[in-house]
Amino acid sequence: MDETATHRFSAQAKRSLQQRLLGWFASEARDLPWRNTRDLYSIWVSEIMLQQTQVATVIAYYERFLARFPHVCALAEADEHEVLRLWEGLGYYRRARQMHAAAQRVRSHHGGQFPTTFEEVLALPGIGRYTAGAILSIGRDERLPILEANTVRVLSRLTAYRGDPLSRQGQKFLWQTAEELLPEQHSGHFNQALMELGAMLCTPRSPSCLLCPVNTLCLTRKAGLQNEIPQAKKPQQFEAVTEAALVLRRADGCVLLRRRKANERWAGMWDFPRFPLSAPPGSKRNRQLREETLRLTGQSITRTAPFATIKHGVTRFRITLEVMAATVSQPQSATLPTDTEFAWLQPEEMPARALSTTGRKIAQMLRMPVP
Ligand code: ADE
Repeated sequence: MDETATHRFSAQAKRSLQQRLLGWFASEARDLPWRNTRDLYSIWVSEIMLQQTQVATVIAYYERFLARFPHVCALAEADEHEVLRLWEGLGYYRRARQMHAAAQRVRSHHGGQFPTTFEEVLALPGIGRYTAGAILSIGRDERLPILEANTVRVLSRLTAYRGDPLSRQGQKFLWQTAEELLPEQHSGHFNQALMELGAMLCTPRSPSCLLCPVNTLCLTRKAGLQNEIPQAKKPQQFEAVTEAALVLRRADGCVLLRRRKANERWAGMWDFPRFPLSAPPGSKRNRQLREETLRLTGQSITRTAPFATIKHGVTRFRITLEVMAATVSQPQSATLPTDTEFAWLQPEEMPARALSTTGRKIAQMLRMPVP
């Protein structure tokens, strides 16, 4: 047998699957805040937040965000910094910046009403086929398929798809399956039921097949291949890197923060001046610290002292962040690069800013009493 042989359901199996999934969703679905609305803007906010982020984390962010920006125009009018501050901790900040840009487009191109056609929704920044399908199926019962991490697993298992679900061929087959299985009505509930099944029962490891409403239709269960399907992803290759973050202090106790530029990681967030450290510890590293500090902030420093080491991960990078403290005896405001925003702040003023995760950790350390 071709190991990526693809399965098609009979009309009867399809009807049965739709009925069982919709029935199960009606009685078992979790009561999540975005499930009590048909407002496209609110559903959009939830779908963007749920990308790469767990439901349990999203709930509080979703409620705070909608309390502050109850309508797409409120978001369009907001300052980007405030949007990022409300997003802080959710990660993938590009999502927030793109939502802000999309809200402005809804205001300018659609009279402040969230668009209702697939093409218009897809044209908004940060919205791909999945998100457009999710918003319009959940909010308006449009018969549009969705495919995301949970449904990839559920559909791969239902059809016993043995190839790589993320390959071009795998994606083509799974999108087709998602489309074929959609009922004529209640597509929104059906799509959510597939996601819910993936989140609650059809889990990556040890799926709860005995409780599954569609277990008798599942080809993977029939073959006993739950541990083999879906095919495992290639393991992530990690790369170790060292970076420096500088606590540059003036005589009055203020510390220099810079706002990350549009082309940088964590764009728009405030952070301590930070750069990759390639030189080994010793005099070469000291020279690199002086030179990079001058280039990034226009400030001359003579000596740095180790302040803290923070280890953290970003995408495939495992970063060792060497936090170094230095005193700036003669702050140079004239030499601060003009293409970047800077702020000299007392540590107590920092919490109000949208900070990178490590920036917030360092800011907290600065406010801790010296033992
Ligand atoms: N993940 C992505 N979209 C979701 C939704 N609407 N409900 C629960 N989990 C999700």
